[in-house]
Amino acid sequence: MPILPGVPNVHFDFGAVDTLGGALAELEINHPILVTDEGLVAAGVFDKVTAAMPVGVDYSVFTGVHENPIIGDVEKGMEVYRTDGCDGVVAIGGGSSIDSGKAMSLLAGHSGKTLFDFSGQSQNITKACVPLIAIPTTAGTGSEVSRGAGIHTDDHTGTLGLGSPYLQPNIAICDPDLTLTLPPFLTAGTGMDVVTHCVEGYMSKNVNPPAEAVALDGIRRVAAYIERAFKDGSDREARWHMLMAAMQGGMSILAGLGPIHAVGLALSEQGHHHGALVTAATPPVLRFFQGQEDKKLAYLAAAMGVGENGDAAQAVADLNARLELPNAVKNLGYEMKDVDHVTAAAVGSHFNYTSPKVPTEAEYKQLILETVG
Ligand SMILES: [Fe+2]
Repeated sequence: MPILPGVPNVHFDFGAVDTLGGALAELEINHPILVTDEGLVAAGVFDKVTAAMPVGVDYSVFTGVHENPIIGDVEKGMEVYRTDGCDGVVAIGGGSSIDSGKAMSLLAGHSGKTLFDFSGQSQNITKACVPLIAIPTTAGTGSEVSRGAGIHTDDHTGTLGLGSPYLQPNIAICDPDLTLTLPPFLTAGTGMDVVTHCVEGYMSKNVNPPAEAVALDGIRRVAAYIERAFKDGSDREARWHMLMAAMQGGMSILAGLGPIHAVGLALSEQGHHHGALVTAATPPVLRFFQGQEDKKLAYLAAAMGVGENGDAAQAVADLNARLELPNAVKNLGYEMKDVDHVTAAAVGSHFNYTSPKVPTEAEYKQLILETVG
């Protein structure tokens, strides 16, 4: 019987950050480490979180997470964690900070191990993970409710994939006010990443009608509000719906991802924004599904606002263009150097396991060339 996979305890509303003290008490965290990046400190968002820390609770801070987090970031954070005697993690930021927080929660509970002991080996991840609170400041990855984390090797050539129910944050604090300063390009890129999570969770061969309903609702929400958030970052109603959609995307990917993320991650080695890569891959992949998944594509088109007789692939391409995101990633500055190497990465992706139709090597090459443009 398909069921909606469990989500953590979510505090969702304007001002939800003020529930941080109660969340720490509930999880019996006496000395948390706050994990974030320098950009959020500079933007003043981190200060809004520290202002919500209850008086009298000591905490440590690690602000060294890179945009694409590396093992070295996690290890440096762990030095602070151990030196200061911390007993829980509060991750504040986008997917980079939250994924780093998940990795720290994992290492803190499994002493003597490295992330290599857990990459692709979910059976090694136990309930020993220390308590984790996630506070998203972008409306994108949905990492605040998902069970996975991606950490790059220090030379950025590989990604360690961590996945386990024990990596799901214990509590997610989703406060749309913390997303108001997200600039337009990141609003567009992270917001369209939400669409890809909902699309791939919806298309997954793991049949799960409740999760599919959440995914379609997330797509409707992004289609209705992303342009408002892009044009006016201070539009609080639009930010509320985008953050809700991001969480729904995080719930959707519990059903699995697919070729959109296989292509997007295969093209990620030059450091381009994840959301911009995957949303450019979406129209070619949806066209690849045509002829096999037409009923679902019709529902996707309706969710995108162009009606069941509309073209879902074209609707995504058109929305990308309105958000000034390229439909050809060469326009992000991507330079194709070795198409066979990139193709091999997509063919070998574990996201293929949940795809309703797995591209052959030749088909992946074609999808990649279309995405690059
Ligand atoms: Fe994504």
